[in-house]
Amino acid sequence: MSRENIRVAVFGLGFVGLPLALSFAMRGCTVCGVDVNEELVEEINSGVTYHQESYRGLGIREILRRELDAGRFSATGRPGEAMASCDNIIITVGLPVSDGVPYYGHLEDCVRAVAAGLKKGDLVVVRGTMVPGMTRGLVLPLLEESGLKAGEDFYLAYSSERIAEGKAFEEFENMPGLVGGYDEKAALRARELLSVVTRAELALASCFEVVETAKVVENVSRDVNIALVNELAVFCKAVGIDVFEVIALANTHKRVSLLVPGPGVGGYCIPNALHYLTPKAGELGVDLPLMKTARQVNEEMPAHVVSLVMKNLRVPPSVGRVAVLGIAMKDYSSDDRCSPAHRIINLLERAGLEVRAFDPAVPARYHFSADSLEKALEGAHGALILARQEGIDLSDLERIAGMLNGGITPFIIDAKNILRGRKIPPGLVVEGL
Ligand SMILES: NC(=O)c1ccc[n+]([C@@H]2O[C@H](COP(=O)([O-])OP(=O)(O)OC[C@H]3O[C@@H](n4cnc5c(N)ncnc54)[C@H](O)[C@@H]3O)[C@@H](O)[C@H]2O)c1
Repeated sequence: MSRENIRVAVFGLGFVGLPLALSFAMRGCTVCGVDVNEELVEEINSGVTYHQESYRGLGIREILRRELDAGRFSATGRPGEAMASCDNIIITVGLPVSDGVPYYGHLEDCVRAVAAGLKKGDLVVVRGTMVPGMTRGLVLPLLEESGLKAGEDFYLAYSSERIAEGKAFEEFENMPGLVGGYDEKAALRARELLSVVTRAELALASCFEVVETAKVVENVSRDVNIALVNELAVFCKAVGIDVFEVIALANTHKRVSLLVPGPGVGGYCIPNALHYLTPKAGELGVDLPLMKTARQVNEEMPAHVVSLVMKNLRVPPSVGRVAVLGIAMKDYSSDDRCSPAHRIINLLERAGLEVRAFDPAVPARYHFSADSLEKALEGAHGALILARQEGIDLSDLERIAGMLNGGITPFIIDAKNILRGRKIPPGLVVEGL
């Protein structure tokens, strides 16, 4: 079949959906992106996105404009339109978590919209991260409300999304994937569709639940491993030794591979992972003490970072001001969802400090946002480095120290280990994790 006859509807045009939709379009498919956010749809159709993705030297904006111009991709707020013209449907709408509880409403709405336009022979691939059991327990019955039957009239598969933001195009292509089908035919059909984009192996699993659980555990394993080194950082600080030196030397052991500590764990994926397991575990009466403790350790890191600010602040918090450099949930990202920077800023403000935060890659604006590095630093008593970004230039520490409040010893809390090994100008205190 010629690629332009492969018609794909991608539901959800966020950090996963937009680059995924473009990945199919770039390979010649005809792709319709669907999102309930009308403003986002309009923005995308006018060639604008704030994502920090690129593929073979082309930025995502250029890719988006090229695919729009070629007519291979368009976005819409009307699911019926996409369902009428496409027989391959990929759902990237996820489950946001609030106070540890996943919210199913967006996914339910999305699946209902898909069901309303479902046709005989359609393939539906769920790609968002699920509470294990939900493809069978929630998606399948909602789709069957259409009157069509999985396995007879339509194909249903679950294939977990494993990309990291910032590497989406490359990882859609080269990251091995997993596919669980309602039956073998569905799994094979989903694998055939996904292999238009993915060159790496797409392994078939025995059922949806294996893939759903593997996905959540992949993220939980990151959470647990990060918690280990975050706890180690607190210990090393108390002992008075450098945690990064400890890790580098421990990693010379051939079977040890410690990660690096940081100001906390942010983003949509890792902090939410445990909360996708707990509903199912609770239902089954299974406790997950190790995973819960790890989550708690990582949630406490922002308070640890704030304690380092308080230790170095030479004025009462009520008159103190600090600059936060980088609010993204990780380096070089525009995504500040669940970012530890927000928790840190909240704790600092609650302690009475004024915060000015600069992050040129994050489009969201807050009451503490500063428009430039200078505006964040000018007159602050100290600075916190929470994420690396292209526009945060830390090359001239003398200049930075000069911008910080000169009357009292200024400080930098370097939560990203960026200034390690650098010559520190006299009068400036730099403290790592
Ligand atoms: N961001 C990542 O790097 C990443 C990596 C792996 C897996 N995932 C998983 O992929 C899923 C999507 O993540 P994301 O980061 O792209 O989320 P996102 O919030 O950036 O995007 C979701 C999009 O879905 C839209 N939406 C909500 N309800 C809708 C509906 N009824 N119909 C159509 N669109 C609707 C939202 O407006 C939003 O634009 C989540 O399950 C997430 O856990 C994300």
